[in-house]
Amino acid sequence: MGTTNSNSSVGNTALLSGCHAIITGASSGLGAEFARQLAPRAASLVLAARNGELLEALATRLRDSHPALRVVVIACDLATADGRAALWNTVDDSGLDPTLLVNNAGLGDYGEFVEADSTRLRAQIDVNVMALTLLAHEYARRAHNGKAYPRAMINISSLAASLPIPDLAVYAATKAYVTSLSEALAIELRPDNVRVLAVCPGPTPTNFSKTARREDGRDTDRSGQDWLRIPSQEVVATSLAALEHGSVRHFPGWKVRLAAFIFESMPRFITRCVLQLRRQKSIQK
Ligand SMILES: NC(=O)c1ccc[n+]([C@@H]2O[C@H](COP(=O)([O-])OP(=O)(O)OC[C@H]3O[C@@H](n4cnc5c(N)ncnc54)[C@H](OP(=O)(O)O)[C@@H]3O)[C@@H](O)[C@H]2O)c1
Repeated sequence: MGTTNSNSSVGNTALLSGCHAIITGASSGLGAEFARQLAPRAASLVLAARNGELLEALATRLRDSHPALRVVVIACDLATADGRAALWNTVDDSGLDPTLLVNNAGLGDYGEFVEADSTRLRAQIDVNVMALTLLAHEYARRAHNGKAYPRAMINISSLAASLPIPDLAVYAATKAYVTSLSEALAIELRPDNVRVLAVCPGPTPTNFSKTARREDGRDTDRSGQDWLRIPSQEVVATSLAALEHGSVRHFPGWKVRLAAFIFESMPRFITRCVLQLRRQKSIQK
């Protein structure tokens, strides 16, 4: 199935053993799970998100269970230039040379485009696109000018990148950007020994839906998602394995892989007809 593409047939476990990782959006969900699963293998973790209390609580648990692990916490809003600068300042003040960037922070917004709050539209672009791109850029720049260690970047995209999704339009578009950027960077950064992986999870039980639901409680049509749902532990474990294997795009779980294959194989006009019918049905409900 053409949905998991490799840039190398040779696995590389040294990539994660003793790594120095930055994880964005580590205060909950997939980001916190990346921290938990990297903790036994990493030398240091830098955990970034806005909620400092949650980050500190996670850091304490990780330090208790992995005494040799260095955990640095930075509470910052990555949607802002100041927040991103604070992250890099923390990395530099800690004397760390990151060998893994997990570009995970992100958010969605369920509901009609026309009724969306423009602040939330902007937040999705600022975090999912702008912050991810500028963090990737600074990381790549440092890797290019720094020591030739094997390094890696994991960008969290989504199965939503494979479809234009009405009532989740901006989110899906931001994730299409993430996948496209990651695939291009996987080629560009190869001479610098930096692997790039786009992870495209299907629906995963985290705080994502709670955040994406609008204040009036309105939701988008998410029927069919139960069939695709897998736990965040599995998303992260298979993503780390995919990175070591040298994959460039990873769809966690066979059902998500199958869905991506179908979505990406369908002629686009059929995709739009199916999405139109689905939307009409959900409006009539
Ligand atoms: N769950 C799913 O169904 C699913 C499916 C496909 C892809 N994804 C992607 O997976 C990634 C992780 O999401 P999740 O599912 O784990 O949801 P989550 O539990 O809501 O986690 C989102 C994380 O992003 C952080 N974040 C949001 N805005 C931020 C900002 N301005 N500055 C810094 N950090 C910010 C949040 O921390 P603070 O609030 O503390 O800042 C939180 O740690 C996202 O990129 C999401 O698009 C999720």
